[in-house]
Amino acid sequence: MAHSSIPGSTDRRIDALLALLSDNTMIVISGAKIAREIGVTRGTVWNWIEKLRALGVRVKGHGGSGYQIEEVPDILTPKLLHRRLHPGPLGKRIHHFFKIDSTNSVAMSLGEREEPHGTVIIAEEQTAGRGRAGHAWHSEKTNGIYMTVLLRPPIPPQQAPLITLVAGLAVREAILEQTGLTPDLRWPNDLLFGRKKFCGILTEMNAEQDRIHFVAVGIGINVNHERVPAELSKIATSLRIESKRTQPRVEIVARLLRHLETYYNRFLSEGPEAIVARFCDVSSFARGKRVRIETSSETYTGTTEGLEPGGLLRVRRDDGRILPVIAGTLSEAD
Ligand code: BTN
Repeated sequence: MAHSSIPGSTDRRIDALLALLSDNTMIVISGAKIAREIGVTRGTVWNWIEKLRALGVRVKGHGGSGYQIEEVPDILTPKLLHRRLHPGPLGKRIHHFFKIDSTNSVAMSLGEREEPHGTVIIAEEQTAGRGRAGHAWHSEKTNGIYMTVLLRPPIPPQQAPLITLVAGLAVREAILEQTGLTPDLRWPNDLLFGRKKFCGILTEMNAEQDRIHFVAVGIGINVNHERVPAELSKIATSLRIESKRTQPRVEIVARLLRHLETYYNRFLSEGPEAIVARFCDVSSFARGKRVRIETSSETYTGTTEGLEPGGLLRVRRDDGRILPVIAGTLSEAD
């Protein structure tokens, strides 16, 4: 679909080059033919092929002999993704970056313009990936999924936290379908295997008192990391580590957007109760879990007692009071 490109986003002709190579796996295509078809010089084709090789795309050959790939590359460019997506608003428009500071930052500024509901911003690498509570999100090149979905939900701002639960449920479904492994959901926005996190969600909102302008749902998934940085090894993992095989990011993004669409529509048609009930069914953290909550002013422990209708987690503190968690970082208490 034609739409204006964002500064720094991937040249559409690189997208076309990848699609051309992918349509002709096992066939040698001459540099001259590629150059003609996508409308650049042979030198540029060579340059771009080098760039793709640096990202792990296995291209054989050179300008003189012609180029060939043996498998469809797992790069998240719009043309390659669109082949796998179901029709629907989510992902209809995709902005891809090889490198960007943060896909959420891009989404927050695009949201202020005419960018439609469902636009996806996706990157191979982030230089300043953001997590909750001011944390950084480790975003190493090509191994993870770093994406933000721009939504314009017709709901009151008070219900916005439920969008995070909606996204978490969609990621869970996509990963279960892709890997056969069942992730746990740690309220409100982490996905875990055991006690180790492989996905985080950062939802940011632009709203007035009674109206949401837009929501940026940022999703970071550790996919093909062979190992996680030493300082994170006790608390983080990746799909590759857990499933013992590399996983196709394109497939995961396609599944994720499909499930996000389903859960999002369910939220709008059936209301928060349906989402809260589903979350309680599949998250081990919803009920009867011993947890520690750290806020800027206090740290306390307690036992979870379900979710409020608005999606907040109820905790029976050790002093007996039952209160919803409004702020803070939640972890499993030993
Ligand atoms: C967390 O667990 O603290 C949330 C992490 C969210 C990371 C994703 S990666 C894509 C998007 N862009 C960002 O800068 N952050 C989110």
